[in-house]
Amino acid sequence: MSRAAQGPRHDVADLGLAPAGRRGIEWAERDMPVLRSIRERFAREAPLAGLRVSACLHVTTETANLVRTLSAGGADVVLVASNPLSTQDEVAAALVRDHGISTFARRGEDDGTYYRHIMAAIDHAPHITMDDGADVIGVLHGERREMLDGVIGGTEETTTGIIRLRALEAQGGLGFPVVSVNDADTKHLFDNRYGTGQSTVDGLLRATNVLVAGRRAVVAGFGWCGRGVASRLRGMGANVIVLEVNPLRALEAVMEGFQVMPVAEAARVGDIFITATGDVNVLRGEHVAVMKDGAILANTGHFNVEIDLPALAALAESVTEVRPSVQEYRMADGRRIHLLAEGRLLNLSCAEGHPASVMDMSFANQALSVEYLAREGAGLERRVYAVPRRIDDEIATLKLASLGVEIDALTDEQLAYLASWEQGT
Ligand SMILES: NC(=O)c1ccc[n+]([C@@H]2O[C@H](COP(=O)([O-])OP(=O)(O)OC[C@H]3O[C@@H](n4cnc5c(N)ncnc54)[C@H](O)[C@@H]3O)[C@@H](O)[C@H]2O)c1
Repeated sequence: MSRAAQGPRHDVADLGLAPAGRRGIEWAERDMPVLRSIRERFAREAPLAGLRVSACLHVTTETANLVRTLSAGGADVVLVASNPLSTQDEVAAALVRDHGISTFARRGEDDGTYYRHIMAAIDHAPHITMDDGADVIGVLHGERREMLDGVIGGTEETTTGIIRLRALEAQGGLGFPVVSVNDADTKHLFDNRYGTGQSTVDGLLRATNVLVAGRRAVVAGFGWCGRGVASRLRGMGANVIVLEVNPLRALEAVMEGFQVMPVAEAARVGDIFITATGDVNVLRGEHVAVMKDGAILANTGHFNVEIDLPALAALAESVTEVRPSVQEYRMADGRRIHLLAEGRLLNLSCAEGHPASVMDMSFANQALSVEYLAREGAGLERRVYAVPRRIDDEIATLKLASLGVEIDALTDEQLAYLASWEQGT
């Protein structure tokens, strides 16, 4: 059988799920007008013709629309999961069956399968990589270094990936230029804050159906994600306590009216704990040891390292799955501590990730950054680059237009005034 007759290479749970996936992808597309307008232009101009793209992203309806956009631009795309629990199997099926995109992702895949899928992205011999957590770039810089020269550039979606890539850059080890999509204003100011804020609370509710009002919710980290989660929990009536290590951000949290205290103190009083730091072992065994019976622990940071899971397991006499995605750790003294989604990203594991409207901007940044690398990547150095300002401005302008919001433009007089130093009092 010819390759075309077999369809694209893939490893997905069930191609029979494709109709549900197609409906989900179309539903998301309605709320992604910026990406749609980019796709229409890409289809006319084919700026990615002849390029192989390896994308390692959460396999969701919104990502499907991004991948369709790249494909419309002429790219030959392979998509693999960036997290074992976030794959929407029906979307993976629709991508293969309806859109002809090579997809390797199964919800709940084990570590071996996850790694095999990453290798499928590597074996695609990409000109451009797209990461959410730097896994593809990590393998290319580790065991497949001979492929580095073939890569024009990469994009990185999230804070945690950028931290890893900047560390690599600082050691002089980055093998190709990478665009930090996360640092675009139209990404982190909206996606991390409003997207993570809403969808993390959504994940908490779907997993537990707990009443938030009146509870003490502890949010670790007051970065872009943490402040989104904290403000949404407050909006639902929780008494929110913020944990921070950065004095400026702690001060912002205080001025926003949140209680701020050390983790050791919060551990004793919290009912719900959500980590959003990008850091390791924020909630440790000594904290679990003093938590209240019934405390709920969850993480919305990138990796499942923010809660010390081995320490939690060591303290427990038994572990039972009491609801889907809710594990009850029973302590020797009878206390029950509830861990959600095995400590993985709560919003993607227990809900549907960010709403399409906010991913519209994040993925518009991804699509335009891939186009930027295709055009200008060869002239860039092996560094982490910001998304060019003009891309950020273009996305904000398109988003406002799609919302039907008009704004003023500076008059000539105002332009001259703002550009001068002579005019004083
Ligand atoms: N769930 C999602 O969909 C989603 C979306 C975007 C980003 N992320 C991830 O969420 C994490 C946070 O991202 P961000 O953009 O908010 O980052 P950020 O850098 O803006 O904020 C992180 C904050 O955590 C604080 N912090 C670090 N260690 C701490 C500790 N031990 N105790 C208390 N506070 C601590 C830092 O001082 C900082 O203010 C990252 O891992 C990122 O990749 C997740």
